[in-house]
Amino acid sequence: MKTTAIIGGSGLTQIESLKIFDKKDYPTPFGKPSSSCVSGELCGQKVIFLARHGDPHTIAPHKINYRANLWALKEAGAEQIIAIAAVGGITPEMTPARIAIPEQIIDYSYGREHSFFAEESAPVQHIDFSYPYNEVLRQKLIASAESLKLNIQTSGVYGCTQGPRLETAAEISRMQRDGCDLVGMTGMPEAALARELEIPYACCSVIANWAAGKTKGEITMPEIILNLEQGMADIEQLLQHFLSNTSSQD
Ligand code: HPA
Repeated sequence: MKTTAIIGGSGLTQIESLKIFDKKDYPTPFGKPSSSCVSGELCGQKVIFLARHGDPHTIAPHKINYRANLWALKEAGAEQIIAIAAVGGITPEMTPARIAIPEQIIDYSYGREHSFFAEESAPVQHIDFSYPYNEVLRQKLIASAESLKLNIQTSGVYGCTQGPRLETAAEISRMQRDGCDLVGMTGMPEAALARELEIPYACCSVIANWAAGKTKGEITMPEIILNLEQGMADIEQLLQHFLSNTSSQD
């Protein structure tokens, strides 16, 4: 089986059940990654874990060195990437504590280093990004969730905002008109950089809260933490099922 990298987001800075062999800090031409690459075994498969916001969680979404993270994972031998990310739910079916496996992205972030082809010395390349997530990987994750009878959303459009503040209600209304179902702060440029490195990439989003203006009250951290805890328990099960059920040819 391909070596699977897991990028953990808010609520997932380590995987308890990972039998750790090695922790390595990879220097990259783009600077320092958010965390060491932790290599180990989970359900009989080789897994590399990276904490997107650092361990402990200190790096804000717009400060993450996405290029260094992706480069380090490639150096560590990642052949496919499952990104775990906390999001807000915009459309009615995107209820808190649920998992969604999005199939499209709209990028509203700005000012982030978002390409490996940005150096003047290197030839520019225009990657195809019509379908930003790897469909084979997405379908395998969906199949695992269905076998486990997890109540997941199997599609959706992920809108990536700049953060670290949450959005205004008007921003969320505009995103909904654009077609977004979910809102998060870290989906881009991560997905595009994985595509530039030709590493299959899919995202499992955990819905932490209703997006701004979708509930009467304020969005509170205790609410986010509680929903993330519930969702991350499902994520661990999903990852374990996915790894246990992928054959050596995959
Ligand atoms: N907006 C953006 N990112 C998020 C949210 C949100 O409401 N919840 C969790 N990550």
